[in-house]
Parts: sequence; structure tokens; C-alpha cells
Amino acid sequence: MSELRILVQGTLIALLCLLLSLPPPATASPLHEPASNGSCVTYERDALLSIKDSLWEPSVNLSSWQGEECCTWKGVRCSYKTGHVVKLNLRGSAQDCLRYSTYRGAISHSLVTLQQLRYLDLSCNSFNWSEIPEFIGSFPSLRYLNLSYSSFYGRVPPQIGNLSKLAYLDLKLPSYNILYSSDLRWLSHLSSLKHLDLSYINLTTALDWVHEINRIPNLSKLYLKYTGLRSTVSALGQSNLTALEVLDISQNYFNTTIAPHWFWNSTSLTSLNLFRCHFYGRIPEYIGNMASLEEVYFGGNNLMSNMIPSNFKNLCNLKILELSGSNTSGDISELMERLPNCTLNKMQVLDLGDNMLGGAMPSSPGPITNLTCLALPQNKLTGPIPKWIWSLTELLILDLERNELHGVVTEDHLRSLTNLKLLSLGHTHLQIKVSPNWVPPFKLQVVTLEGLQLGPAFPSWLRSQTSLGILLIANTTITTIPDWFWVAFSRAEVVDLSKNQITGALPTTLEFMAAETMALSNNRFTGTVPKFPRNIKGMYLSVNSLSGSLPSDFGAPLLQYLSIYNNSISGPVPSSLCSLTQLALLEGTS
Ligand SMILES: *[C@@H]1O[C@H](CO)[C@@H](O)[C@H](O)[C@H]1NC(C)=O
Ligand SMILES: *[C@@H]1O[C@H](CO)[C@@H](O)[C@H](O)[C@H]1NC(C)=O
Ligand SMILES: *[C@@H]1O[C@H](CO)[C@@H](O)[C@H](O)[C@H]1NC(C)=O
Ligand SMILES: *[C@@H]1O[C@H](CO)[C@@H](O)[C@H](O)[C@H]1NC(C)=O
Ligand SMILES: *[C@@H]1O[C@H](CO)[C@@H](O)[C@H](O)[C@H]1NC(C)=O
Ligand SMILES: *[C@@H]1O[C@H](CO)[C@@H](O)[C@H](O)[C@H]1NC(C)=O
Ligand SMILES: *[C@@H]1O[C@H](CO)[C@@H](O)[C@H](O)[C@H]1NC(C)=O
Ligand SMILES: *[C@@H]1O[C@H](CO)[C@@H](O)[C@H](O)[C@H]1NC(C)=O
Ligand SMILES: *[C@@H]1O[C@H](CO)[C@@H](O)[C@H](O)[C@H]1NC(C)=O
Ligand SMILES: *[C@@H]1O[C@H](CO)[C@@H](O)[C@H](O)[C@H]1NC(C)=O
Ligand SMILES: *[C@@H]1O[C@H](CO)[C@@H](O)[C@H](O)[C@H]1NC(C)=O
Ligand SMILES: *[C@@H]1O[C@H](CO)[C@@H](O)[C@H](O)[C@H]1NC(C)=O
Repeated sequence: MSELRILVQGTLIALLCLLLSLPPPATASPLHEPASNGSCVTYERDALLSIKDSLWEPSVNLSSWQGEECCTWKGVRCSYKTGHVVKLNLRGSAQDCLRYSTYRGAISHSLVTLQQLRYLDLSCNSFNWSEIPEFIGSFPSLRYLNLSYSSFYGRVPPQIGNLSKLAYLDLKLPSYNILYSSDLRWLSHLSSLKHLDLSYINLTTALDWVHEINRIPNLSKLYLKYTGLRSTVSALGQSNLTALEVLDISQNYFNTTIAPHWFWNSTSLTSLNLFRCHFYGRIPEYIGNMASLEEVYFGGNNLMSNMIPSNFKNLCNLKILELSGSNTSGDISELMERLPNCTLNKMQVLDLGDNMLGGAMPSSPGPITNLTCLALPQNKLTGPIPKWIWSLTELLILDLERNELHGVVTEDHLRSLTNLKLLSLGHTHLQIKVSPNWVPPFKLQVVTLEGLQLGPAFPSWLRSQTSLGILLIANTTITTIPDWFWVAFSRAEVVDLSKNQITGALPTTLEFMAAETMALSNNRFTGTVPKFPRNIKGMYLSVNSLSGSLPSDFGAPLLQYLSIYNNSISGPVPSSLCSLTQLALLEGTS
């Protein structure tokens, strides 16, 4: 049942935190061009038509690409003054960004005809794993180039370094190792560059990348996530990157201490993402002096039992602190004393999960009164949940599971958490005591209460939680489930009721549930096995008292895991099981 765990733990919680608590990034595209009254240049019109021809199955609707006046065609903008095409936006749909393998066409060499182009967006198209053409470097006025999420293959052409006016360059991929660049020397000519995203491009051999990046004085956003970088420098003669706002070098393999004097002189850095960089040792005090910081991600590095430096107290703009799985230890109160202590406190996300923090939570929150996400799972926290947590009215996520916490949680406590989406208290010594008629003020999407004593009756307050996507209540001493259960949670994707003492039959309406994973094992279910939920991938029914023969058709074409051992099921294995192409694990009757 390991996939249940994977679903709701570790970085997923952190991701969920960020997804739920941050506003979606502004998508306004830079460099707006005024619409022109047109009078299209004839040879540019011809070029556009041959680009249209080379797009096999354009993901943008090119039905407007006909007639003389090319300046009014969808995705085309001409200069107000000269009539030349200055902008070409053929960005695919958001869906195409994900699909990414359907063949959409080639880049026609005719593109070069559009010499006045300032803006070129071909993102989210599929170019059949061809190479990025070298002629991409021959647009002297180009300021914006976006080839992200398009299936190109091979070398990033250094000719891109000829685009001396370029301010935005986005080549990021959805996964690693399709494109590579053996060094970043070509970047040094791009002195106007403000936004650079090379995430997921293989830069393993770009050993001198820090110095190469340091030649781009106006850089404000730098994303080099998951690029195979392994070298860094401990000191930089002088940092040119005085305008840097976003630095994301997450998921690389540096295997060194966090360089103490590097880009830290920036007075404008707002987002520092060093997630899973394989850094070890202390966080340099320098970082605590960077008052501009709003987001800091240090999760997945090895802080070697050190805490954040005490001068983090001064980071009055900090909104997000992410330290999950970073081998930080010590007393939770002491750590919280190092959090920003400012009159106007902005902290929203505190993620300290999967560490070795101990002690009881402090009885006063200090200045962090407006959190949206508090994630402290898998630590060694003791004592009761302090009162102040119940007054965090903005909370979306409260994850305290896998700690040594004691005490009683009442409906009074939960009353103010009207925005809560995730409640995770499993594997603690907490007790939940609410009246049978209580209707919570929140609509949860995820609830995990494994190992708590909720039974013997099914917790009736869950009845109102009809938006649940994940319901994990294994090993909670429940002995019955009400009829409304199958209706209230019919939209849940993951349901784990295993290791209870639930009696009764499975409903014939099971097939109408949306579940992809359903664990009902280790209970006392009786009766026959009904048809499975239609989207089910993992079905766990072992160790029950189910009897009769299996349905001749489970009605579950996506089934991959099925366990039914230790029941009293008789009769032949239905032949429909043999036609399931996905089935990996079938643990039969014993
Ligand atoms: C493309 O747009 C035109 C007019 O805007 C519309 O009539 C046509 O149905 C669209 N085609 C597709 C495939 O969406
Ligand atoms: C667009 O129209 C304006 C005034 O109507 C005119 O001055 C300008 O030259 C026109 N531009 C082009 C490219 O035709
Ligand atoms: C896509 O690329 C493959 C391999 O290079 C080639 O065989 C195929 O013909 C290409 N498809 C199109 C439509 O050009
Ligand atoms: C490039 O295109 C992608 C996908 O369309 C988009 O998400 C991204 O924000 C764009 N990059 C820039 C710098 O505008
Ligand atoms: C562009 O860049 C390449 C390689 O960096 C270089 O050889 C070439 O001379 C540059 N100029 C033009 C116009 O392509
Ligand atoms: C990245 O590129 C290097 C050198 O070109 C190569 O050795 C390595 O295998 C590539 N990485 C992956 C994951 O393929
Ligand atoms: C800073 O940038 C300038 C302009 O690109 C470059 O000449 C200089 O070498 C850079 N300084 C360092 C230390 O890299
Ligand atoms: C950071 O600033 C200090 C003093 O302001 C200066 O001595 C040092 O060289 C700078 N470091 C970098 C990497 O720019
Ligand atoms: C990481 O660095 C340590 C110490 O420098 C070294 O012993 C170890 O082999 C390195 N690990 C890898 C995988 O390179
Ligand atoms: C936080 O600031 C207040 C007021 O300035 C001060 O009384 C308190 O001691 C500070 N707390 C910590 C942990 O530094
Ligand atoms: C608390 O957070 C909410 C939204 O997260 C925000 O609208 C509100 O202004 C914040 N209040 C304070 C006092 O920071
Ligand atoms: C069930 O939860 C209890 C604590 O409530 C724990 O001691 C026990 O090990 C759990 N049993 C299983 C099978 O996980």
C-alpha cells in the first residue's frame, strides 16, 4: 500500500501548501505591442503562410490566416510605424504543454524572413524531436524567445547568444535530458537578459556556469532547476547580479557546503530555491541579512542537525520557509524564536516536516499569527496542540501527523478554522472529541487520521466533508460504516479504511464511486464482492470474510493492483481478469 503513503506525504504536502496558499503567478506576457492598422508586407505574408504550411496540426486556430491583411491574423502583430511583423505568438494551449508528444510540425526556415521580430513564442508545440534550428539566432531585434515545453532534441544552439537584445529566454522542459548545452559561454553576449529559464536542460558539463551567469548584469529571474549542475564556487570576485530577484537552482547535485559568499550580496533577491541541492552544513548567516527575501526553500538538503541562523528573525518580508527533510533538529520553541519577529509579519507557509525537531510547541505563537500552511509532520513533537494554532483563521493546511502529540481536540478548537482544506493528525496520541451532531465549518479535501481512536461508530462529522479527495482513516477502531458513507465520499480518489473492525456487506453501488485507490483490507466485511469503482487502479480486499464467487466482470479496466487473499471466495478466477492489460499484482485466495 506504499502508494497511499506517497500520495500524502513528504513533498506532496509542501507542494499542496504552495498550490493552495499562493496566488497563481501573473500570466501577463511581457512586451505588449500595440495592434497596428496593418498593411502587411507582402514577403512577410508569404513567409507566414509557409510557416502555416509547416505546422502540421497547429495547436492555435489559424483559420484567420488568410487574405491580404496578415497584420490582423491571430497571433501576429505588426509595427505601428513600419508595418513589419514584430510579434508572433503560436503558443499552444495549456493542455498541449502537458501532452507534448503529438506531432505539430516543423519550424519553417521562412521564419528568418521576419527580420523585425521582437517577440517569438512557440511554446507548447511539438516539433517532432527535431533540433532547435541554428537560424533561431538570427533575429537582431528579438527581445522575447519562448520555446518551452516544445519537444526539441539535442544541443541548444549557441547561436542564441547572437540575440543581443534578448530580455526573456525560456527553454524549460517538462523533464530532464532532452536538450543539453555543454557550456553557457554563449550567454555572456546576452547583456540585456532579465529572465532566463533553462530548467531540465542537461548542463552537467557546464562547470563554470556561475561565472558565465555572472556576466549578465541585468538578470532578475534565473531558473536552473534540475539541470545536472554539480559545481559551484565558494566565492565570487564580484557579483554582477545586483538585480537578481529569483534564484532557483533546486534539484542539482552540489555535494558541498552552502557557499558563504556567492550571490548573497543581492539586495533584491525575493525567492531563493535551494530545494534538494545536496548541500550540507549550516545555512550561512549572510542569508539572514537579505531583508528582501520572501521565499526560502531549503528542504532536502542536509543541515547536519543545525537550525536556521538566529538572524532569520530579521527577515520581515519572509512569507514562505520550507525546510522539509533537511535534517534540522533541536527544540521547536527555539526554532520558532528564530522566525521573523516583525510588527508586520508576513509569514504564510511554514513547512518543517520530516525532521528531528522535538519538544512541545511554544504556548505563544510569537508573531506568526497569519499562517496559511503549518506543516510539522514526522518530527518528535510532544505535548498538546497549543491554543494559538486554533486561532490561525487563515489556515488551509494543518499537518501535524507522526509526532508524539497528546491531548484532546474538540469542536471548539476547530471552530475558527473555516478555510481548512487539509487536516492531518494521524499517528499521534491525539483524541478527537466532538458531539455527534457537529457540522464542521470547513470543507476538507484531504483528511488523514490514521491510528487515532475514532470508533467504534463512524465519525459523523465527516458526513459533511463531501469534497474529500483523500480520506485516510485506517486503524481507527471503527466497527460500522453508515449507508451515507458511499455517497458522501463518492468523489474521493483515495479511500483507506483498512485495519478497522468494520462489519457488513459492500454495497452494489460501489461501482459508482470515483476512487482510484481503495483499501478495505483487514476488516470484517461479509457478503459477495460487487463490481469495482470504474476508475479503480488499486483495490485491497484481503483479510475479510467476503464469500461467494467473484463477479464475472469487475468493470474496472484500469485495475493494476488487486489483493483478495484471506477471504472465503470460491469459484473460478473470472476470465475478465486475464484481459486486464495493467494488472500487476494479484494476491489470490489462500
Ligand atoms: C477557428 O476559429 C474560427 C473563427 O474564429 C471558427 O469558426 C472555427 O470553428 C475555429 N476552428 C476550430 C477548429 O476551433
Ligand atoms: C496607420 O494609420 C495611421 C493613421 O491612420 C497612419 O499614420 C500610419 O501610417 C498607418 N500605418 C501603417 C503601417 O500603414
Ligand atoms: C518525425 O521524426 C521521425 C524521426 O526523425 C521521422 O521518421 C518522421 O517522419 C517525422 N514525422 C514527420 C511528420 O515529419
Ligand atoms: C513561456 O511559455 C510557457 C508556456 O506557454 C509559460 O508558462 C511561460 O510563462 C512563458 N515564459 C515566459 C518568460 O513568459
Ligand atoms: C552567431 O553565433 C555563432 C556561434 O556563436 C557565430 O559563429 C556567428 O558568427 C554568429 N553570428 C551570426 C550572424 O550568426
Ligand atoms: C547529461 O550530459 C552528459 C554529458 O553530455 C552525459 O554524460 C549524461 O549522461 C547526461 N545526463 C543524463 C541523465 O543522461
Ligand atoms: C560583470 O559583467 C560585465 C559585463 O558583462 C563583465 O564584463 C564582467 O567581467 C563581469 N564581472 C565578473 C566578475 O564576472
Ligand atoms: C559583497 O559586498 C561586499 C561589501 O559590500 C564586497 O566586499 C564583496 O566583494 C561583495 N561580494 C560579492 C560577491 O559581490
Ligand atoms: C560528496 O562529497 C564527499 C566529501 O567531499 C565525498 O566523500 C563523496 O564521495 C561525495 N559524494 C559523491 C557522490 O560525489
Ligand atoms: C520579538 O519582538 C518583540 C518586540 O520587539 C520582543 O519583545 C520579543 O522578545 C522578540 N522575540 C524574540 C524571540 O526575539
Ligand atoms: C493575513 O493573510 C490574508 C491572506 O492570506 C491577508 O489577506 C491578510 O491581509 C493577512 N493579514 C495580515 C494582518 O497580515
Ligand atoms: C494502530 O494504531 C495503534 C495506535 O493507535 C498502534 O499502536 C498500532 O500499532 C496500529 N496498528 C497497526 C496495525 O498499524
